[in-house]
Amino acid sequence: MTQQLTPQSTHFPRRAVVTGAAGFIGSHLAHALVQAGTVVIGVDRRDLSTDQTAAANLTPLRSLPGYIHVTADLIGCAIDPLLIDADAVFHLAAIPGVRPSWGPQFGDYVASNILATKRLLDAVGRMRVPRLVVASSSSVYGATDGGHSVETDHPRPASPYAVTKLAEEQLCLAHAAQPHCPTTVVALRYFTVYGPRQRTDMFTHRALLAALTGQPLRLYGDGHQRRDFTYIDDAVAATIAAATAPAAHGVINVGGGSNASLLEVISIANSLVGRDIEVRQENPRHGDVLTTRAHPGRAHEVLGWQARVDLHSGIRAHMQALAAEPSVYSRAA
Ligand code: NAD
Ligand code: UGA
Repeated sequence: MTQQLTPQSTHFPRRAVVTGAAGFIGSHLAHALVQAGTVVIGVDRRDLSTDQTAAANLTPLRSLPGYIHVTADLIGCAIDPLLIDADAVFHLAAIPGVRPSWGPQFGDYVASNILATKRLLDAVGRMRVPRLVVASSSSVYGATDGGHSVETDHPRPASPYAVTKLAEEQLCLAHAAQPHCPTTVVALRYFTVYGPRQRTDMFTHRALLAALTGQPLRLYGDGHQRRDFTYIDDAVAATIAAATAPAAHGVINVGGGSNASLLEVISIANSLVGRDIEVRQENPRHGDVLTTRAHPGRAHEVLGWQARVDLHSGIRAHMQALAAEPSVYSRAA
């Protein structure tokens, strides 16, 4: 399933920093970059001696000579030394979930998603890093009429998390708009990324876990909500293109342009295991939108990117990976 990434472009980073490298998307991105010949400094605050999920995420990477891991919290650590000679910074570190952002953890969202991003931007400016790719989110669009979301649409974030991601993205763009700023910023609005090592709070992980183990799945709402599910390899390919495409700048959607309902995902999972998931329906969660769907035109035009992995193949690959790692991935959040 992994796409072959070859450093054809002269803009391919020789040395890059990936923040959030012990996380789902960051670990895949770091791995793909190292395999393509980039020296990667992976930064994450998770303690690998106690956080088994983070350690497992990094297992494929840690033996590779081109990978250097740094355990550090961007809220307080010295960032400049991490950026020495970096051609690109991929800023994925964040507190990511939509639903818990209503609760007392909101301060952590603000600290990691906004304040730490500002610290990183100041360091990126001082160290004159030429390119910053920042992980934004489809959640900044909020409720839509069900059609495609275009980058120029007026954002209407519907959750505290989404507000912090919009602030993070706009902070990065404001930084880039300063006169004489040496850094080009690309803000990628990822649409619900799934695949091996997906976060355990996310729907696809939970549905596949339920299918494999027989444990019930809690469904928030009637399951007719739709997402532009984006396979991890496609998300990684777009992220690398955002650093290598010379003309890339500004906001770009990372989603294939079609979507599927949660019930369709459940149905694919059922068909793969040959039995039905036990679904326990609960109330919809406040801040969850009904539909997401990317307009992929700008990603295609600017990055030469398009989603390649269809939902059925992606779910199958995700399930195979989960089935191979039951001891790690059965710890649902
Ligand atoms: P993840 O939680 O697996 O990874 C994020 C990592 O960032 C974690 O390992 C965490 O420890 C680290 N981190 C958080 N705060 C930090 C700090 N202050 N200092 C150092 N490290 C810190 O999440 P993910 O699903 O891989 O998401 C990665 C990024 O993509 C996030 O910015 C998220 O908002 C964004 N995003 C994700 C999705 C998705 O579907 N997974 C969709 C849209 C946007
Ligand atoms: C996901 C990520 O979690 C966010 O980090 C990201 O910013 C966002 O995508 C994005 O695209 O921008 P979300 O779409 O809410 O957010 O993805 P899931 O957490 O997988 O939830 C999808 C749907 O499944 C939601 O309607 C949710 O309520 C539902 N769900 C989730 C359940 O019914 N049961 C669960 O156990 C978990």
